[in-house]
Formats: sequence, structure tokens, C-alpha cells
Amino acid sequence: MMNKLAIWSACSLTFFLYTCKTDLKYNAFYPGQVWEDNNGVHINAHGGGMLLHKGIYYWYGEHKVATSIGNSAQVGVHVYSSSDLYNWIDEGIALNVIENDTLHDITKGCILERPKVIYNEKSKTFVMWFHLERKGTSYSSARSGVATSSSPLGPFTFVKSVRPNKEQWPINVLDIHKINKESEKNNHDFTGGSLPTHTDSINILGRDFKTGQMARDMTLFVDDDGKAYHIFASEENSTLHISELTDDYLDYTGKYMRVFIDRFMEAPAIFKQNGKYYFIGSGCTGWEPNAARSAVSESIWGPWVELGNPCTGPDSQFTFHSQSTYVLPAPGTKNGLIFMADRWQPNNPIDGTYIWLPITFDGEKPVIEWFDQWNMNYFNP
Ligand code: DGJ
Repeated sequence: MMNKLAIWSACSLTFFLYTCKTDLKYNAFYPGQVWEDNNGVHINAHGGGMLLHKGIYYWYGEHKVATSIGNSAQVGVHVYSSSDLYNWIDEGIALNVIENDTLHDITKGCILERPKVIYNEKSKTFVMWFHLERKGTSYSSARSGVATSSSPLGPFTFVKSVRPNKEQWPINVLDIHKINKESEKNNHDFTGGSLPTHTDSINILGRDFKTGQMARDMTLFVDDDGKAYHIFASEENSTLHISELTDDYLDYTGKYMRVFIDRFMEAPAIFKQNGKYYFIGSGCTGWEPNAARSAVSESIWGPWVELGNPCTGPDSQFTFHSQSTYVLPAPGTKNGLIFMADRWQPNNPIDGTYIWLPITFDGEKPVIEWFDQWNMNYFNP
């Protein structure tokens, strides 16, 4: 009893001290507006993801710089912390690019996108995965990077980069994939979508069997049983792969599924609501916005049933000029969910803003409506 009281007091004190550290400037979200951190600087964490750890939220994202060079990684992955999701403390760079080794996988100038961090209870390690394009390869390396840290604030140490599931067939492999075709030797340039013909008829899965599968836009999802999954755009962006991670979250088990085959889905976000799995993502049009997509499934492995564009109202066909990055359960609410997206500014990426909006449901279909301003009371009127 005494122990519980002592732990409770310590936690309350930490939370109190933490709250004092934050300048509580905001009590609402203002989608698309400049969002200042505790130093009055616009938050710089694009293509981001959230981690809730011991009552504190951590926001990890791409640190962008001015001019179009800022679409490549000049600095690394930025991390912010918050106790209320409105007010964010700049905690600095969680993963730095490497400055003095031009051959390093994450050398300055590589492309490092959509970092996500999950916590491994068994190893007490924070594990970051991100989409990596080696410097100078445009979007053709299509690799997954892994970094770890013993603290949510980092510094994270780069572990490795891989092409997923080398010499492994997915659960739903077809016989035609196993036929060694001569036809598809060349790599397609990254054009933001579209192949000359259906991905299976040119067998991109089979083409990449020996080298490992391509992995671009990505997210991580940890299920209630602690199993983690890496979900990424593969096969020249035509098809998503859902890939199970090992217990330490550092590798693939080799079990994976092809989903939304030839649908060109990007910007994946996965969440669970009332025992069902939901997907929100985008089409594939580079930095230009397009209509978001949604889907539901009884199992992480599918079958996934598409539910159409979750956005509604003016500009819904452009996801309110943004692209999904994460969906977060809203604190202090029973079923509240927050849709998080990026309004990209490819010519001056540092100016990119964030679109956070509440998700409601029409039956089992997620619905996202625009608000100039809203706060958590939306979920608890
Ligand atoms: C859209 C993706 O969602 C972004 O992460 C980025 O890869 C751009 N395409 C590049 O054009």
C-alpha cells in the first residue's frame, strides 16, 4: 500500500514538474496554422508519429530545412514532448544524420522519411524505423532503417538498413510470382505512382525476391498482444506489405502479407477500434495531395475491405490539402481518435504545417471533417 502511494506521489510530482516546464500557450488545435513549440518556433517534425510513454507524448518527425534541399535529410529526426498534445517542448534531435562519412547509410543528404518509434517492453528499448533512400539514389533504394535508444529522447543509434523479407514469400504468394521472369529487370523511376501494367503481370514481387522487397512510405503498429508490424509501400509503391516484426522489434519474422494489391497506397496509418483494425492512407501523387482512403479488417492480416474516402466536406477530395501520417487515440476519451497529416511545402519544406482532426464513425466507416479550431472537448461534449 505504502509502495503504491509512494509511486503515485512520485508520478504526480514528475507530471506536475513536467507541466510547469511547458508554457501552456494552446488549449486547442488549429489545423494548418503555424504551431509554435515552447520556444515560439514552428514545430519541425514532418511525416511524424507518436509514442505515449509513462504519461508523456513524444512526437517524432522529419526535421526539414528551407528550400527544396530540405526534402532530403540535412539534420535528422526531431523529437518533441507534451503532456496535453496542444503544447510541445522541443527536445532536440533524436537521430542525427552522419556528417563525416559520405558512405554511411544515413549520411547527410540521404532521404529519411516517416520515422516511427515504438517501445519494446522486454528489452526496455525504444526502437525507431524509417524509410531510407541512400544519398544520390533518388527513391530507388527503397530501404527500411532501424535505430535504437534507451531513452525516448534519444540519442538514437543507427543499427542497420534493410530491404525487407529477402528470399521470403508472403502468405498470399501466387504461383506466378515464383516463375523466374526475364521481363522485369529494370527499376522504374519513382514517379509517384502508376506502372505500365498490373504489378503481378510484371511480377515485381518475384523480381525483388532475392534482394529483398522495396519499402517506402511506412508506419509501425503494435497490437494489444505486444506483436509489432511494419506496414510499408512496396513493389514500386503499387502494393502495401504488412510484415510481422520479431519480439525485439529489430527484424522481420518473415511472415508478411500483400494488401491493397496494385492500389498504389501511400502514407499508411493503422489503428484499432472496438476490436477491428482500421487503415487510413492516401493515393500516390508525390507531394501533391489526393483523396484519402480507408479500410477495415477483422484481422491485421486481412481481408481488408476498402471503405472509401474518410474525409467529408469542402476539399475532402484533397484530404484538406494534406497526407496522412498517424492516427492517435485521444487521451481521456473512450473512443476518441485523432487523424494526423502533413500539409507539405515541397519548395520550402520547413514551412509544412500539420492537419490534426477528430475521427468519428458512420457505422464502421471513419469520417474526418474539417475544423478551423477544435479541442479534446469535442470527444466529451
Ligand atoms: C509522398 C510520400 O508520402 C512522402 O513521404 C514522400 O515520399 C513524397 N511522396 C515524395 O514525393
